[in-house]
Amino acid sequence: MADRKEHLQAEESNRLLWDEMARVHIRAYKEVQLLRDGAEILDEIELREVGNVAGKRLLHLQCHIGTDTLAWARHGAIVTGVDFSAEAITCAEDLRDELGLDARFIQANVYDLPEVLPEEFDILYTSRGVLCWLRDLEAWARVVARYLAPGGLFYLMESHPILNALEEHSQGELAFRHPYFHSSEPVRWEPGGPDYADPSHRLGHPSHEWIWSLSDVVNAILGAGLRIDLLNEYDRLFFQFLPSMTSEDGRWYSLSQYADKVPLLFTLRARKAP
Ligand SMILES: C[S@@+](CC[C@H](N)C(=O)[O-])C[C@H]1O[C@@H](n2cnc3c(N)ncnc32)[C@H](O)[C@@H]1O
Repeated sequence: MADRKEHLQAEESNRLLWDEMARVHIRAYKEVQLLRDGAEILDEIELREVGNVAGKRLLHLQCHIGTDTLAWARHGAIVTGVDFSAEAITCAEDLRDELGLDARFIQANVYDLPEVLPEEFDILYTSRGVLCWLRDLEAWARVVARYLAPGGLFYLMESHPILNALEEHSQGELAFRHPYFHSSEPVRWEPGGPDYADPSHRLGHPSHEWIWSLSDVVNAILGAGLRIDLLNEYDRLFFQFLPSMTSEDGRWYSLSQYADKVPLLFTLRARKAP
């Protein structure tokens, strides 16, 4: 059973990893060039489920190098992006300046944000690879609720937690090999593995990832006093999680052998009482 000190050490080690990855991703993310080209990088699922953001105050938690934050700004939102990686925030600010967009970026740990940002927002958005970095989901959900103005909307898009339990065997056969349910002990991955956006870059830091089940996420949001009004599961994913996943458009990946059998993505939308 990991204690608080070990959790904080794991989180600090993750911050160093994200500083490293931010420097790689500003060159490797295809979204950066797409933004430069004026293309849409948000997908139709989130555009439909979040709805009209024009003129609304949008807080993006774990914004990384700011690509999605800046895309929401192009849709007319008044955006603030938050990330605990100083390198990621510098990349986001440079990209904002290069694109000539209006956006504010803040370097802060999600849990410490209330100490530095005394505001409320109409929309709180977070997506694609965020939950596994959170050591305390209930505290995170309280921060989410803290930042929503009355009637405000929370939106999460994330890989489906069932994927954590799966392992791929020969010919793409899937087996349940890993835990689905939460453990206080994060999963540690040693340095030397490939970066997900640039596999030629070998990572110099370990990563520590916490597993959260779907009910953990739902209960954390309900426990923070929000009302869930949408929970969807999809058969496609925003990255190639398993070797046999294929993509037709280079953005969405699916498991053709298990097309109607395994959820790959989920979205959750919740509201704060008016
Ligand atoms: C996979 S990225 C987010 C995905 C984002 N949609 C993207 O790819 O552009 C995860 C981000 O979470 C940030 N992060 C992890 N733990 C955090 C924490 N406790 N507080 C703030 N940011 C955190 C990392 O620095 C990283 O930028």
